[in-house]
Amino acid sequence: MKKIGIAFFLGAVSFSLSAKEGMWIPYLLKQLNEAEMRDMGLQITAEDIYSLNHSSLKDAIVHFGGGCTAELISGEGLLLTNHHCGYGQIQAHSSLEQDYLKNGFWAMNREEELTNPTLTAAIVKYMRDVTNEVMVGVDPAAPQKERLRKIGENARALIEKEETETGYNIEVEPFFYGNQYILVAKETFRDVRLVGAPPSSIGKYGADTDNWMWPRHTGDFSLFRVYAGKDNAPADISEENIPYRPKQFLTVNLNGFQNGDFTMVYGFPGRTQEYLPANEVSYIMYNYNPLRISVRDQILKILDEKMRKDDATRIKYAAKYARISNGWKKWIGEVNGLKETDALGKKQELENAFRAKLSQNADLTRSYGYVLDSLNKLYAMQLPLNLQRYNYLERMYYGTELMRHMLRYRSLVKSVEEGDSTAADLSKRLAAGMEDFYKDYDQAVDGEVFEKVFPDYIRDVHQEPLPELLAELKGMNEKKQMDFSQKLFEDCVVLRNPEKFVSLLESNSAKAVKMLKKDRAYRLASASYEHYRESLSAAAGPLADAAEELQGAYIKALREVFPERRFYPDANSTLRVAYGKVEPYDPVDGILYKTQTFLEGVMAKHVPGDYEFDLPEKLIELYNEKDYGPYAQEGRLPVCFIASNHTTGGNSGSPALNGSGELIGLNFDRAWEGTMSDLNYDISRCRNIMVDIRYVLFIVDKFAGAGYLLKEMRFAEPETPVQLPAEILPSEKN
Ligand code: ARG
Ligand code: ASP
Repeated sequence: MKKIGIAFFLGAVSFSLSAKEGMWIPYLLKQLNEAEMRDMGLQITAEDIYSLNHSSLKDAIVHFGGGCTAELISGEGLLLTNHHCGYGQIQAHSSLEQDYLKNGFWAMNREEELTNPTLTAAIVKYMRDVTNEVMVGVDPAAPQKERLRKIGENARALIEKEETETGYNIEVEPFFYGNQYILVAKETFRDVRLVGAPPSSIGKYGADTDNWMWPRHTGDFSLFRVYAGKDNAPADISEENIPYRPKQFLTVNLNGFQNGDFTMVYGFPGRTQEYLPANEVSYIMYNYNPLRISVRDQILKILDEKMRKDDATRIKYAAKYARISNGWKKWIGEVNGLKETDALGKKQELENAFRAKLSQNADLTRSYGYVLDSLNKLYAMQLPLNLQRYNYLERMYYGTELMRHMLRYRSLVKSVEEGDSTAADLSKRLAAGMEDFYKDYDQAVDGEVFEKVFPDYIRDVHQEPLPELLAELKGMNEKKQMDFSQKLFEDCVVLRNPEKFVSLLESNSAKAVKMLKKDRAYRLASASYEHYRESLSAAAGPLADAAEELQGAYIKALREVFPERRFYPDANSTLRVAYGKVEPYDPVDGILYKTQTFLEGVMAKHVPGDYEFDLPEKLIELYNEKDYGPYAQEGRLPVCFIASNHTTGGNSGSPALNGSGELIGLNFDRAWEGTMSDLNYDISRCRNIMVDIRYVLFIVDKFAGAGYLLKEMRFAEPETPVQLPAEILPSEKN
């Protein structure tokens, strides 16, 4: 008992003191973070994590399809990522007869692995600061446009030169709003095959109800394999290709972890905005998010009603619902979290301290005295424009399927009008894609959504110049508008007679275009899009550029004014390391969230027949038999866990590594109370959510019977008497 008391006490100390926010540039870890990381429990060196000269963990980290992260876990290109990252591929291979989304998919040998035409897997070869090169000939006194043009020109030259020399994909990315430029060289593989995925009842268990929430019980993983040409270099999909032999792959550790243990997440976080002034954060809290949330409230309510009433609708709309609700739920959590942690107060405090420092120093005042006021002015000017942007995006673009769909014909109309010789081909391609649209489309659902959001869109669109049609609609009374929206659906060429429309696209693009141009849906989609692209962008573009520049000046000033503080660059889809600890959190008086969930919790949520909480029979059997093999932790099967790693969208699929750099989990989400971490990370409640690697391998091995895959993996020495299956004993692997 005494021992437990001490452990708890120590846990409590580390909880409040030592976890650190930030998403750090891997090649700067040595300089900025290594000492602290080692203090927290890192046992390897910064050089082991990222090295220019020899192989390091970075060689096992993969940018998956450009939007997620994945990691190599075998010497034969085996790749681990989330189920929700591989979702599109799993879905593409699914049909009613072979529903891999529903039932899962397991290749039982290499021949059964499935190719994915557009999927890529990119590995970072090196990164280098190229700020000086990018700034050559940039006149600091020139107008911003001129400077950006020169910077772009320099970057393109650099990219071209280095791509020719190395054959890698080269990117030049701005950091700290253009205060720094870093060149990233990537090797991009184009033959990435699906190896395995659990059924959605495991990989998406809890679906939208549990999304963004802790405690969590989702086995959110899938497996792929990277293939390369005989020379081990990227190649187009081909039967000749062989599994990629990576420079490094991760060691799997089945020994688990304890509260207070060091963890890091290595991946490609997408976008954060940690350095916004309080005013802009308040617009997000009180204007932008509320608008976006309220529109999605309306849409989700309609979808939910229809989906509950009808199974076919539910299947058609599950993915769309998930997409709309993912942002919606995050923004609600974000607003709550910002309020509950007094984000505005904290930002204000920083700004006050900043202003106070400036006032003591004439040079600093001269350089930066204008920055905050100008920024605030700019963000205030952006407010009405951004609200209109969201008015369009939420209501007409993400909201109404038909409106978004009609935009596909814009290029056809243009090419027919211009007499382009490729028009017929384009038209045929559009015809070929129609099945995908019709397959998941329900006019009754979309029509109801449209009727709901359309009058509000018309009410809120106002930036001049307004396209004629929008002006006309604004002038109509409610009844006339209703009439218009009803006819819009009834008469729409795409909906009225699908076969006829498809055959028209195939055989007579000129006639199709003629009909489209008269079509209300096409005209409205086009007019609203043009308004967004032209009237709004014309007004908003220069403001956005100026804000970007001022944010750059602000962060530059912050770094000068507070030299003792450590600043990390906002996420920009480049490779980063976040580190923290496995630690509980207590967001609400009286609640302390523990760090782990177990299979018992999965079973407790089981609702037979439910589309979010049903479970496969086999899993229930394994649970009843307690057949957990080497994956148990003191007789129970661990499922998910949390830690204080600073992550964001794009970090999905990132490996969670222990102090030895070994794989202990797979990142896939964040806890609800901390989703404001993109704007204001708060260690007291921001937690990333990971699937325990033991659950992943339990599903692969015991549930799916694909244990043969484990033979490729490398395992850390077992710490406890737990026996690994003979075929995966570490001695057998290098
Ligand atoms: N919230 C996670 C992320 O932002 C998971 C999303 C996928 N799951 C879902 N139910 N939509 O990507
Ligand atoms: N679920 C996110 C992703 O897909 C991760 C996050 O936002 O925490 O990248």
